[in-house]
Amino acid sequence: MTAPTRDDPSYDLDDVGTNPSKNPSFNDLIASRLSRRHLFGLGVGTAGTALLQACGGGGGSGGGFLPIVPPPPAPAPPPPAPPAPLKLNFNPVAKSLADVVTVPAGYTASVLYRLGDPIAAGVAAYKNDGTDDPATYDRRAGDHHDGMTFFGMNGSNKWDAANATRGLLVMNHEAITPSFLHPNGQTVVGGVRTVADEVKREFYLHGVSVIEVNKSGNSWSYKQDSSFNRRVHTLTEMTFSGPAAKTDYLKTKFSTDGSKTRGTLNNCANGTTPWGTYLTCEENWAGYFRRTAGMANDDKNRTAKELKSFSRYGVASTGRELWATVTPDTADNQYGRWNTEVLGASAIADYRNGHNTYGWVVEIDPFNPSSTPKKRTALGRFGHEGACLGPVVVGKPLVWYMGDDSRNEYIYKFVSTKNWDAADVGGGMAAGDKYMDDGRLYVARFDADGTGKWLELKLGVNGITSSNTNYAFADAADVVINARLAADSAGATKMDRPEWTAVNPKNGDVYVTLTNTNASSRPIASTDGANPRFYNDKKGTSDQKGNPNGHIVRFADDNADPAALSFKWDVYLFGARSTAAADVNVSQLSADNDFSSPDGMWFSHAAPGLLWLQTDDGAYTDVTNCMLLAALPGKLGDGGAKVITNTDGTTTLTQNTFVGKAPGTDGLRRFLVGPKDCELTGIAESGDGRALFVNIQHPGENTPVADLGDPAKFISHWPQGGNARPRSATLVITKDDGGLIGL
Ligand code: FEO
Ligand code: CA
Ligand code: CA
Ligand code: CA
Repeated sequence: MTAPTRDDPSYDLDDVGTNPSKNPSFNDLIASRLSRRHLFGLGVGTAGTALLQACGGGGGSGGGFLPIVPPPPAPAPPPPAPPAPLKLNFNPVAKSLADVVTVPAGYTASVLYRLGDPIAAGVAAYKNDGTDDPATYDRRAGDHHDGMTFFGMNGSNKWDAANATRGLLVMNHEAITPSFLHPNGQTVVGGVRTVADEVKREFYLHGVSVIEVNKSGNSWSYKQDSSFNRRVHTLTEMTFSGPAAKTDYLKTKFSTDGSKTRGTLNNCANGTTPWGTYLTCEENWAGYFRRTAGMANDDKNRTAKELKSFSRYGVASTGRELWATVTPDTADNQYGRWNTEVLGASAIADYRNGHNTYGWVVEIDPFNPSSTPKKRTALGRFGHEGACLGPVVVGKPLVWYMGDDSRNEYIYKFVSTKNWDAADVGGGMAAGDKYMDDGRLYVARFDADGTGKWLELKLGVNGITSSNTNYAFADAADVVINARLAADSAGATKMDRPEWTAVNPKNGDVYVTLTNTNASSRPIASTDGANPRFYNDKKGTSDQKGNPNGHIVRFADDNADPAALSFKWDVYLFGARSTAAADVNVSQLSADNDFSSPDGMWFSHAAPGLLWLQTDDGAYTDVTNCMLLAALPGKLGDGGAKVITNTDGTTTLTQNTFVGKAPGTDGLRRFLVGPKDCELTGIAESGDGRALFVNIQHPGENTPVADLGDPAKFISHWPQGGNARPRSATLVITKDDGGLIGL
């Protein structure tokens, strides 16, 4: 299989699916009796059990990430007065196709950190014309800003979650828009990159930024010469830990014992730890590795298992940026490392295993700029979107919820073996070694009756054995490296592209955005309870069939125990045009809150219960650019059972499901609309919640190559305006009266 390339305008390099397994579609279970009993009486948490989540944007108020110790049983203090319920308090922003950022009256959105901005003393301002010195890009903002966390920092340069005026802002740079990085886009001659300096820029523009940010008056800026500023990119050395570390699967010419690799890329959503480090997640990494149809001769050098793994992970293209094609190679194989071919006498003589060194959750300690990032292999290898930390309770295991964003992929969780000890706050990478290298990896099965099961991915269980006829698992490393194949064996439920995960700090409910899917990946006969819609969302005269608007599934682990092996679920919210039919616009969205393709999602710490939703959409873009919405969700089971009638124009089928209560404008409002051809992704808040950091990714990215010669034809010029090239950038949003954002 040769995957399409950027030259094919219909192909989205971040929208892939490679799951051929026959895992359950609930058609088999369609006759199952639906029961709502499980949705009643879902008291979450036991008396005195404190819940706190800390994924994604970080920050936090009044103690932020710090764990809360269950109080002693007696004497019982008088019950505190219940906090006033949150109320959205802004006028919804209208949908817009303008090349601007729009926020409600009473708010100010300022640009903080743009593609190319310098983060070290002596680095010149970014000219933004493709001529900046490639050697400086390891000290400039990367491209495609994505998942992001604010780590408050005190005067002793230590983590202080509640800090409202100073912090380290850590963010992913997922990918690049090559059109705007070089004098005239990428120079490609006969399928070969011929300008090594262009590739050098691209190596540096992927990865992660750490920048120090400070508040002065009511405005924020980053400190160009801070000693904490750092770029982690595709050349940064990192080590492996967990079951796959130092195994044959990870041996390369660069690391003959399989202990390390270089770089991270396609860093999409993010996550945090209760000890104060950052997690960056490698999503669509497979496309960067070169394995073309022309390498058919290479197949004879590969085992059947290796070929199966290539196929299941979609390593099957020319390499999306053609990095492997640059000649001559460097002595340390900066280009050749992207070529998966068997070229040498053994794995330590080439990069036949290079692809195995990507697809991981990577831990970075932002407070230690010289620390080496670690790829935590116990959390499995797949198309990691994010890793949201669940409730943190002293004496209990830690849990991270994770989506695998490709069509028909799965939802996972990792549960630590060690129980949380608050003494590990500030423990850096050593704490990561304690909690993230040893634990249990599970994948989710959503059953038709509104319950679900966590299926363990471990050698010897759930068909994950050496006698598995699809893929014979050899050892623990094989299981985590080929986690998708293990999940296939376990019988996980195929989902409509799992993006971000978020945990409600008020009750522990877990939310997962399922951004969208198409008719070929989920035909009308393949809907199921947790992925229940099939419809045609007409865009102009074009059909968009399947589930092009996406939805958000919600679940609660039984007994509020993150280590539980079962859960209950419903669908919190469905994307749709407000004008769509009732069985499409199931959540009864209005002009004030309709949206499509949810992706970024994060619960505020300063205002527990306030949920932020971001869109990465191509379906509703005839009407509006992508957006940020504020939500006040209820809880699992606040709606009820529902039968949805699906139609593709000729066939009509019904689908049983469970849906959340329709939000109305009290529960969901559009807060921000971005510039043209962007996605909204990445969100964080200062320690007091009075500054909201939001990323605008890839404005104008679909500008046709033929139009690059005429700047007036660029789809977007944001944020500089005029005829400037567009730039991904971080916004900081403040309320003009200094109050909490959105409330
Ligand atoms: Fe990188 Fe799934 O968005
Ligand atoms: Ca993206
Ligand atoms: Ca995303
Ligand atoms: Ca997306």
